[in-house]
Amino acid sequence: MAHPVVPPHLFVVFGATGDLMQRKLLPALYRLHSQGRFPLGSVIVGVARHPMDDGAFREMCATSLVAEKAGAEAEVGTFCRSVLFYQTLSGEGPTGFPGLRTRVEKLEAGHSLPGNRIFYLALPLEAFAPTLQGLGEAGLNHSPGWTRVVIEKPFGRDLDSAVALNALAHRYFEEKQIYRIDHYLGKETVQNLLVFRLANAFVESDWNRDRVDHVEITVAESLGVEGRAGYYETAGALRDMIQNHVTQVLTLVAMEPPARRNEDDIRDEKVKVLRSALPIRLEDVVRGQYGPGTVEGVPVPGYRQEPDVSPNSTTETYIALCLRIANWRWHDVPFFVRTGKRLPAKSSRVVVTFKAPPVSFFQSESEYAMSPDRITILLQPEEGFEIAFEIKVPGREMRVQTHRMKFHYADVFGPLPDGYDTLVEDVMIGDASLFVRADEVEESWRLYGPILAAPPPVVFYPAGSDGPEEGQRLAASWGHRWSTE
Ligand code: BG6
Repeated sequence: MAHPVVPPHLFVVFGATGDLMQRKLLPALYRLHSQGRFPLGSVIVGVARHPMDDGAFREMCATSLVAEKAGAEAEVGTFCRSVLFYQTLSGEGPTGFPGLRTRVEKLEAGHSLPGNRIFYLALPLEAFAPTLQGLGEAGLNHSPGWTRVVIEKPFGRDLDSAVALNALAHRYFEEKQIYRIDHYLGKETVQNLLVFRLANAFVESDWNRDRVDHVEITVAESLGVEGRAGYYETAGALRDMIQNHVTQVLTLVAMEPPARRNEDDIRDEKVKVLRSALPIRLEDVVRGQYGPGTVEGVPVPGYRQEPDVSPNSTTETYIALCLRIANWRWHDVPFFVRTGKRLPAKSSRVVVTFKAPPVSFFQSESEYAMSPDRITILLQPEEGFEIAFEIKVPGREMRVQTHRMKFHYADVFGPLPDGYDTLVEDVMIGDASLFVRADEVEESWRLYGPILAAPPPVVFYPAGSDGPEEGQRLAASWGHRWSTE
């Protein structure tokens, strides 16, 4: 298929001096620009409260791009001078927006732009509502061309706040103008879940309760809270990772094949998974918090000793739970999900374990216990998949051994693009398939409501361990074990 033509536009980023813009978004915009995928004549306007002029903003961005190794100093400098502008948002609340509108119109006139606009909210949760309101009240929700608004995570703190935020957004914008971003959906390996399942008939025909015993989704990080305690203390692993990233992976693993490959058919199926999920039982949830320990050979403090964390904090940095999806495909197949910080290594994977053969044909002849067949989908940092199956060891004896067949993206395609490049380009094209719809985000908060309302007590694990013992016991209570790799 020919690469879609992206029309020239104005790309406005709120929170332009923040970490997300400087470390993720700006490098993505730069890469798209240097690959000729950022339309000629388009401009980027950084917006923040901090008073600064275009020159100082360009310098700041050039320094970040070099630090992020996005490009060499000379090319980065040319990019910044030719496409970047800065607008200070003065006053409190929506007061600075009429000034922003004047600047937007002036830049559009100066660059002969047709009035296509993207407003990217790279902001903390509490700033989403006033910014959406400010845009709407200043008449920046519509334009002579198209207007799109991109909202970062977390979209709300619970069901009520997500419903209220959706209502506010819909007061000013139509749903098709809103792009709720979840950067996991931009990862090639997450998108490959669709291809792996739906372009390989042998996979899809086994992807159900007749063949699958249980499914595991693990998103492990070796990093700690990384100076983000102000945010993390009020979020915790459930809000930070499970409600969004892990749930997105879950819905792609569990959904029915959509009728067509368009944004609504795909998202309809994802929502149905969440609607079919049974209420989570509190005995199926383990919340943990890391204590001091050693990660990758380096001693690290516990969460409570991190700067800006309360010494009595009960925020979870680890959570494991069991989900059940009551539909024809998945009835009685447990889905175990877990995520945690300060685990031994970064590793995100989906492990689908199949049922054992109905008759143990080889058991009496082999002293080796047979392992169930498994498909492991490696999301990161290794990307690809592995299939574990049984083979006969050559020789007179009938000995059975588990073998792993591996496909790693890097061996075939080299490094994969960053998820932000894909998602930013999708917004420019106007393809919302990889963005989260209003009903999807609400269903997801609804699902985790019982845990938010009555969080189980937090238990402790040493940094660098596999998480609390209780996490292992949760899987064991269902007769399973978490995968170790
Ligand atoms: C972010 C979370 O959304 O995702 C972080 O706020 C987490 O806490 C990060 O570390 C993980 O992203 P990735 O792409 O490194 O797996």
